[in-house]
Amino acid sequence: MTRTHAPHAHMVENAHVNAADYDKMYAASVADPAAFWGEHGKRIDWIKPYTRVKDVSYDFGNVSIKWYDDGTLNVSANCIDRHLAARGDQTAIIWEPDSPDDDALHITYRDLHKATCKMANVLKDMGVEKGDRVVIYMPMIPEAAYAMLACARIGAIHSIVFAGFSPDALAARVNGCGAKVVITADQAPRGGRNTPLKTNADKALANCDDSVKTLVVRRTGADVPWSDRDHDYNALSATASDTCEPTEVNAEDPLFILYTSGSTGQPKGVVHTTGGYLVYAAMTHQITFDYHDGDIYWCTADVGWVTGHSYIVYGPLANGATTLMFEGVPTYPDASRFWQICEKHKVSQFYTAPTAIRALMGQGDEFVKKADLSSLKLLGTVGEPINPEAWEWYNDVVGGGRCPIVDTWWQTETGGHLMTPLPGAHETKPGAAQRPFFGIEPVVLDPTSGEEIEGNGVEGVLCIKDSWPGQMRTVWGDHERFEQTYFSDYKGYYFTGDGCRRDQDGDYWITGRVDDVINVSGHRMGTAEVESALVAHDKVAEAAVVGYPHNIKGQGIYCYVTLMSGEEPSEDLRKELRTWVRNEIGPIASPDLIQWAPGLPKTRSGKIMRRILRKIAEDDFGALGDTSTLADPSVVDDLIANRMNKG
Ligand code: WTA
Repeated sequence: MTRTHAPHAHMVENAHVNAADYDKMYAASVADPAAFWGEHGKRIDWIKPYTRVKDVSYDFGNVSIKWYDDGTLNVSANCIDRHLAARGDQTAIIWEPDSPDDDALHITYRDLHKATCKMANVLKDMGVEKGDRVVIYMPMIPEAAYAMLACARIGAIHSIVFAGFSPDALAARVNGCGAKVVITADQAPRGGRNTPLKTNADKALANCDDSVKTLVVRRTGADVPWSDRDHDYNALSATASDTCEPTEVNAEDPLFILYTSGSTGQPKGVVHTTGGYLVYAAMTHQITFDYHDGDIYWCTADVGWVTGHSYIVYGPLANGATTLMFEGVPTYPDASRFWQICEKHKVSQFYTAPTAIRALMGQGDEFVKKADLSSLKLLGTVGEPINPEAWEWYNDVVGGGRCPIVDTWWQTETGGHLMTPLPGAHETKPGAAQRPFFGIEPVVLDPTSGEEIEGNGVEGVLCIKDSWPGQMRTVWGDHERFEQTYFSDYKGYYFTGDGCRRDQDGDYWITGRVDDVINVSGHRMGTAEVESALVAHDKVAEAAVVGYPHNIKGQGIYCYVTLMSGEEPSEDLRKELRTWVRNEIGPIASPDLIQWAPGLPKTRSGKIMRRILRKIAEDDFGALGDTSTLADPSVVDDLIANRMNKG
């Protein structure tokens, strides 16, 4: 029996959208998308207003997605300049450093304007022009936001690489998008430790074209190696002009590329464009979080992920909000850090990942209770399903029972929230993504027939029927892969890669990925990437990687490894492989469990049967299914006998 939570009375009264508004607006949004989005496009400022709103084809072989495509605008002017007259002295960004002993910064919209213009001028002087790619590999410092906005200001396309990624992963992305400049910092302080970002960038750039330049922000002032390609941001920005005319770009010019994992091959560059993305990020930020003037909004994500793009930087700043950026981790110096920050900066909306909630829940209530959380009005979660226990704890202990929880389901590809309860409109159900945002038409498909399953109380694959302005437009440099990945399995729909259930009331529950993507601590990872890292080790003959349920991380990384003949399994080798994968991809891809597998279950045609490996890792032997098609069914017995995930 699901416990439900009625919307709080003050929300019903004051929220931007109540239940009646939702029903009316939703109906209008799907009845006439062009009229609906034509109106909401006015949320942002256009240089040349659009006359066309929507021009979309989901036809496989001919997929094309365009919104507002005869309009022109500039994103940084929308996020900064247009607020200057009314709120130049309002704080745009509150920056909270890794160590609570260091001072926080309050950056006003006026400050942000100057800093962004300076960075834009520095980039221009380095030869960056409209359409050029700039990779950002940065700690969570204000300069990361300046860098994004500076690129947007001059029409350059940024591609942020999470600072936890390895030099190899960085090099692949720099090369993948043909970046002209990499913006980085000397070091990235996190949890009291300094990651040597500049050194990592140097290692990466050894595998990139010599013409790639770097712009280095001094965060800690540590001594770092310096070469001809390096440019000192602190020195250059000191003398750069603090004005820079925003470049006019088309609504469909790319704003950014963000590499994300898929079920096969290496990560792909998701391309988001300018106009539709900004409209969607701004609208969802305002309505999902019920943001009002004066609120202090905090999303704990990193700008290296899409959540940081849409809901730390672009959405909030387009709305003239005050957005908090935190450099550190939830458990440093101790497990009360998040709550101390909420108290210190009087945070109104707090948005984090279930993995953080579960980890902090495990530390006990005392860490929460010693902070004054009375400023909180709303809580949000993102990135993975939240289990009802964690939801209830978040609701009771963090929110004091006063704050609605928005469980936002969306993806790197979607640009913004696709499904979430709205705080003033919906009775929430712990663990459900619930209702579509405006303009979103979710459908549940039968995985075999591809037919829509009508009615309630049904389960299947989750697809979306029509486009919305924040949707990705293509895979960088590979439109065919875009069509193959999202439009080929179920013709005429956008395929999300997730499974879902529509319950008796018509609410949606995400049941997890139906492909070979796993979700580890809210980080999305392709099992194929971890496999290719493992087999790159010279003692590994073969590897298969699956997810398994993990109490804190949601899913853990379970690796079956077949060694080269003559190699002996050992604890040391396990450690060596873990370190190897961390170096190849980054700490987030570190294997949790490695099982030595003398053989892997394969069909007679040599295809690894991952379904079986998944079941073994999940300790679900009863459901192994048909193993008679295996070339050698006895390998399964060995794998079961030696599985790692005991107890
Ligand atoms: C999963 C993160 C359940 C889902 C914004 C999706 C979720 C993938 C939720 C995208 C949620 C995200 N409930 N599952 N509220 N939010 N997911 O691209 O499997 O890093 O497909 O985007 O995370 O991950 P991505």
